[in-house]
Amino acid sequence: MAAPPSASILVGPVPFKDVVGDDDDNGAAPPDEYDDIVSALPTSTTIGLRHYHGAWVSEWRVRGVISAQRRFVPRPGDMLLGSPPKCGTTWLKALSFAVMARDAYPPAGAGHPLRRLNPHDCVPFMDELFSAGQQAKLDALPSPRLMNTHMHHSLLPASVADNPACKIVYVCREPKDMVVSMWHFLRGAWRFTFAELFEWACEGKTPNGPVWEHILGYWRASRAAPERVMFLRYEEMLADPIGHVRELARFLGRPFSAADEAAGLPASVVELCSFEALRGVSARSVGSCSGSRVEFSHQSYFRKGAVGDWTNHMTADMARRFDAIVEDKLRGSGLAFN
Ligand code: A3P
Repeated sequence: MAAPPSASILVGPVPFKDVVGDDDDNGAAPPDEYDDIVSALPTSTTIGLRHYHGAWVSEWRVRGVISAQRRFVPRPGDMLLGSPPKCGTTWLKALSFAVMARDAYPPAGAGHPLRRLNPHDCVPFMDELFSAGQQAKLDALPSPRLMNTHMHHSLLPASVADNPACKIVYVCREPKDMVVSMWHFLRGAWRFTFAELFEWACEGKTPNGPVWEHILGYWRASRAAPERVMFLRYEEMLADPIGHVRELARFLGRPFSAADEAAGLPASVVELCSFEALRGVSARSVGSCSGSRVEFSHQSYFRKGAVGDWTNHMTADMARRFDAIVEDKLRGSGLAFN
């Protein structure tokens, strides 16, 4: 691992990859002391999920969840980005990084880290690092730290979930579009049909599923403490990205000033983090993102970036069935997708 710059002289967030370098190994090993717990958990699906406290989590990640619950050391000012997989994580990472780091890295600048790095290389994935026994890499980051997780809210370390000094920004997405996005993403690494994935989704057995439980956990947390948990929806962000960037900046404690507005900073952030711009950077990148265990190419994080692609993959009957399940699960919560 490259020697990290002294955290005390840097102000975060800084690109994760610039701090930890390219070395994925770092001499650490996945925590094996949880093997007995993990091997006793119910298992399901071709992609090797385990049922852990109500969540379907890949076997590899269960270790990370337990390890994070026991070992995560929070710092005042930590910002955590939460999401179910394939719901806008990459975009939220880019926007949050660009907003929080805009003094050090002006969004319109040619040298901005997001013009050379995938957002996953700028913002570390906490679950993966704990799963790999590489959580020390988080210690190398200067404060405030920006990290992300796919954990259910109920699985978060108490040191995050109950910590008034740590804020969470959550993004979710219309669940049928999530299933379609997941299909395109996972089929690169596993063999299964869309019909199979759809059946698993109906049973809640997708990575970090059931997606409705994932969404409900953060939804309730944001209703209980809106100043600590911000709840975003991918479709609404696409409809008004500049408005959402302003809200995000306020929530992250970095509101745009009148001078920032006059300089067009919110629009510059949106442009820097647009689907086209980030996809263009990823097309020039080789290898996979920092910390990812399964090799997903940089480009696999950018597919269509649109709403409603489920219509190209699901029959009307499939859509009705899935909608009815989600509607039933969300009933009474004040949240709906259709
Ligand atoms: P699609 O597969 O529907 O195109 P995640 O980042 O959580 O893995 O989510 C991936 C989804 O977000 C993909 O959706 C991807 O194309 C989309 N996405 C990635 N970057 C985006 C951006 N800058 N703006 C809008 N959507 C983006």
